[in-house]
Amino acid sequence: MTAEIVRVSERWLALREPADAAARARDLVEELVQRPLARGRRVIHDLGCGSGAMARWLAPRLPGRQHWVLHDRDPDLLAAAGAELPGAAADGAAVTVETKRSDISRLHPDDLVGVRLITASALLDMLTEDELAGLASLCVATGCPALLTLSVVGRVELTPGDPLDGRVAAAFNAHQRRGTDRGRLLGPDAPAAVNEEFGRLGAEVLERPSPWRLGASNAELVTEWFAGWVSAACEQEPELAGHTDAYTRRRLAEIMTGQLAVTVDHADLLVLPPNRRPRESHPADSGTSSVCAPLAAFVTR
Ligand SMILES: C[S@@+](CC[C@H](N)C(=O)[O-])C[C@H]1O[C@@H](n2cnc3c(N)ncnc32)[C@H](O)[C@@H]1O
Repeated sequence: MTAEIVRVSERWLALREPADAAARARDLVEELVQRPLARGRRVIHDLGCGSGAMARWLAPRLPGRQHWVLHDRDPDLLAAAGAELPGAAADGAAVTVETKRSDISRLHPDDLVGVRLITASALLDMLTEDELAGLASLCVATGCPALLTLSVVGRVELTPGDPLDGRVAAAFNAHQRRGTDRGRLLGPDAPAAVNEEFGRLGAEVLERPSPWRLGASNAELVTEWFAGWVSAACEQEPELAGHTDAYTRRRLAEIMTGQLAVTVDHADLLVLPPNRRPRESHPADSGTSSVCAPLAAFVTR
């Protein structure tokens, strides 16, 4: 059991941002913007924002004025998010951003008053089952949709294959599910847990694949990903370490010569909660009739 809080490096987030952008399920965004209309500025809370990649990707794909509240527990990542802001909305409307140092497992619906959309990206595997249950209750209490993207599902494929791939993958997945002082992490069980927890609360969950498909043009990302994958696997199963030196040398040579292709499967989930009475409007949410209109109310024209 570990008590550690894993810090995510800004460099890693910068490396993965283009691959994430290519992988995200665009049709879930279309689902979102096709919902009936409401008035006013959209307040969007991004949970575990890291350096702000989700807002940079999504804000220009949504129409209308938006105010993003970016939550993370890591002040350095919040500073990076505040320094590289998203562009304008799809129709040219203004997009504003504020950053908030928060533990997203302790948020209360009052922290999200005025919210129209909740987002999270590459976050859920780091949560425990109880934390996800809390997040589900929070989201459903707001009555807003939640776009939860890029959750690992525990499948990777390396081409060409190697006899050690399966063993490393299994140890990595076990590491993702490791016990901590907060409880067992969900790791690749997160998408199933979202379906279960949100489904139990009456929400509809739409799920789409969002795989990374990496090859010769992503050598730096593949190198970092591979190093982290093997290192986590060996931490979980120390006896593996005796076998991974030669394996790593082979794989790095393949990456450098553009011969290794890697698919890392993820799932994107759009949660549409059951209709309920809107919560009170946030004073800053000028022009909004009421807040979290039953999920229907995300888009305004
Ligand atoms: C893998 S990064 C993803 C960052 C960003 N969403 C993206 O897609 O680039 C996960 C982020 O969640 C944050 N995080 C994890 N657990 C958190 C918690 N309980 N409260 C606040 N932030 C958390 C980490 O600090 C990290 O920035």
